[in-house]
Amino acid sequence: MILLIGSTGFVGALFGELFDRKSISWTAMSGRRFTFSEKDKLISELSARSISFVINCAGYTGKPNVDACELDKGNCLEGNAILPSVVREVCGALGIGWGHVSSGCVFAGERPGGGGWREDDAPNFCFRRPPCSFYSGTKALGEELLGWREVDTCADWPKWEHESVPQGYVWRLRIPFDENDGPRNYLSKVQRYENLLQARNSLSQLSDFVDACWECVEKRVPHGIYNVTNPGSVTTSEVVDLINKHGVNNKDYKFFDSEEEFMTKAAKTPRSNCVLGTTKLEAAGIKMRSVREALEWSLEHWKREVERFGEARDCKPSKRNDIDRLSL
Ligand SMILES: NC(=O)c1ccc[n+]([C@@H]2O[C@H](COP(=O)([O-])OP(=O)(O)OC[C@H]3O[C@@H](n4cnc5c(N)ncnc54)[C@H](OP(=O)(O)O)[C@@H]3O)[C@@H](O)[C@H]2O)c1
Repeated sequence: MILLIGSTGFVGALFGELFDRKSISWTAMSGRRFTFSEKDKLISELSARSISFVINCAGYTGKPNVDACELDKGNCLEGNAILPSVVREVCGALGIGWGHVSSGCVFAGERPGGGGWREDDAPNFCFRRPPCSFYSGTKALGEELLGWREVDTCADWPKWEHESVPQGYVWRLRIPFDENDGPRNYLSKVQRYENLLQARNSLSQLSDFVDACWECVEKRVPHGIYNVTNPGSVTTSEVVDLINKHGVNNKDYKFFDSEEEFMTKAAKTPRSNCVLGTTKLEAAGIKMRSVREALEWSLEHWKREVERFGEARDCKPSKRNDIDRLSL
């Protein structure tokens, strides 16, 4: 039996759908229960429910965006750093495997020497290397609490090494998108923001992400961190061109003149824009389609929110399309 933590969220709901499709038995538990004071109770409960693997999709992302984390730091720290460390300890005590959804937002900019940031590169957008957003700081801290630490080896960039032997999977998701129009989908956000920030990024097609994570478990690839993004990178204007090309929304897209203007007019905390390397996942035998292919496919199969839920939005949205939270 798989335990899914955070099944009520955008990412967690899709893991639930995958398990249902594959007829894999799973059960849900709220991430709010994963505190150190509950540890012993959780160990007994998971053991009694014959849990064989834990997937943690819970985390505090901030709504409508990461700026909200700056105003709710305790919750953010608990959800992104304390929670994964409790998962690690509970699973360690039971001798069962686990996978944790982390984020590529622990990096910003380009890797010195070129190429995408690798799993063994120390984060450069975190509390140890400010400036960063509070959200990104807690995501990097979450990885530290799972055993990773910065080690300077006098190479081109400090390494991100495990203190002993990695025991679980850390899957880094980055700017999720898919074919379902909705407030959490990057492709919808691009269409709804008044002004866009020009940047180059790695992205994750959400179903591809969930499939690839589960493939790690099925194929028993070595434990550790994996950047689970569709290979390649795109700029915001390339994404806009694809949206136009597929006739999804031909509005007149406006861009901020600079990141400074974006920071002054639209953001309270710095954003991570970065490219991640994907060779580790590929070398483990897990192939994802290129980011361009995944974008083209999602736009070809685009399902508008009104088509899915009705113009008056009187139909009950599924839990993964949290329309009430739309605030772009
Ligand atoms: N969405 C993105 O753009 C994105 C990008 C990269 C990485 N990620 C990571 O992916 C994971 C899932 O994100 P998501 O987009 O699915 O988030 P989401 O839709 O906001 O769902 C978050 C889930 O985590 C739970 N949660 C929130 N705060 C918590 C806390 N303080 N303690 C325990 N549980 C808490 C929520 O439970 P309740 O129902 O109780 O609120 C919910 O089940 C997170 O770790 C996030 O950092 C997301």
